[in-house]
Amino acid sequence: MDWGKQNRIDRIIKPDTGKTVMLAVDHGYFMGPTTGLEKLDAAVNPLLPYADTLMLTRGALRNYIDPGVDIPITLRVSGGTSILNQEALLHEGATCSIEDAIRLNASCVAFSILVGADYERDTILTFAEIIDEAQAYGIPTLCVTAVGRDMVRDARYMALASRLGAELGADIIKTYYVDGFEKVTESCPVPVVIAGGKKIPERDALQMARNAIDAGAIGVDMGRNIFQSEDPVAMIQAVRAVVHDGASVDEAYELFESRKAAV
Ligand code: R5P
Repeated sequence: MDWGKQNRIDRIIKPDTGKTVMLAVDHGYFMGPTTGLEKLDAAVNPLLPYADTLMLTRGALRNYIDPGVDIPITLRVSGGTSILNQEALLHEGATCSIEDAIRLNASCVAFSILVGADYERDTILTFAEIIDEAQAYGIPTLCVTAVGRDMVRDARYMALASRLGAELGADIIKTYYVDGFEKVTESCPVPVVIAGGKKIPERDALQMARNAIDAGAIGVDMGRNIFQSEDPVAMIQAVRAVVHDGASVDEAYELFESRKAAV
């Protein structure tokens, strides 16, 4: 692999553990001021020491994050529809050029493909163009797989969408944890991370992360279950313990409770 691309990947997927905790705060690209991210800088700054990469849009990066910060950036480069337009929601296109991603010193670019949706062809072909452009500059790509309206969110669908993203040329796949997740990781030739999804109790989110790692995921790209936690700093440390240190759910939850109590 190209030196620059490998260097960028190694900044995100830590070579000593082969794992990553990606902090996703890109929700505003289709949801606007998401609960917990109204003041994105205030929410994110205390979490940065515990994240391996920060996933967000170029507008959030430029407006909320200090350029002196020492964290690799995973830049979301797809969008185009909002949560207000459910009909069109599954029809994303490119929202940022690779040139601007380079200007922002992005370590990775993220794009959603909408396998099974009406407009899947548009999203898949546009992502292929993004991969070509990113590849030319040694920038890795993260393929976000989402759920089409008529697709059942199960291991068969996630395996299909994940493998499709890898065959397109993505370097990392982001998908959702489902029962039988080994089917997804075992049939995907590139690393897989899971999104967190809607906020659930902290212990359940830690259990989901544990299950995903045990089933072959190399980490999480988690947002709401961290920044909407009753204690986001304690929660990201607990998630980190699961991902990087092999902590059990009990150990991680105990860590969450103790760090929470320490405040
Ligand atoms: C969705 O496509 C966005 O990229 C989010 O970043 C992603 O869903 C991860 O965030 P959460 O853990 O809140 O689901």
